[in-house]
Amino acid sequence: MLLRRRSDKIDVLKKVPLFSELSRRHLDHIAREADEVKEAAGTVLTRQGGLGREFLLILEGSARVERDGTVIARLDPGDFFGEMSLIDGMPRSATVIAESPTVLLVIEARCFRKLLDTVPGLQRKLLITLSSRVRAADARLASIN
Ligand code: CMP
Repeated sequence: MLLRRRSDKIDVLKKVPLFSELSRRHLDHIAREADEVKEAAGTVLTRQGGLGREFLLILEGSARVERDGTVIARLDPGDFFGEMSLIDGMPRSATVIAESPTVLLVIEARCFRKLLDTVPGLQRKLLITLSSRVRAADARLASIN
């Protein structure tokens, strides 16, 4: 895909569940700040233990999330990752690897934090996803034990 025009970028952002209720002004802000990046299959997108510098959202393709070498989740278009380190300042909790050619929207830490502080409803949407990830992790643990 790789969108050249800002209006195309806004049309794509509107379809992403995390951003679907954002005002035109906020979408425009994200479209200006976010970079679109294409990565090959197998590329390490975040590395467990590394420093968190950006928030990433999958526009096309898929990725797997690994912790200590074990796959703990898969991410598809519309899914985001990299939020944890930006929220708590701790090292990356997991390694995320592209499973196919992947187009990502990359938002730099400072911009991401500003969006969280200023865009109504964004924190809540993020918390809903984090809750569902904790539930999935709990269910996985319970099935192992
Ligand atoms: P962060 O810790 O910044 O970097 C690695 C990312 O992997 C993390 O943020 C989350 O976005 C993502 N991640 C970690 N654990 C899970 C999980 N159990 N399910 C889905 N995504 C996860």
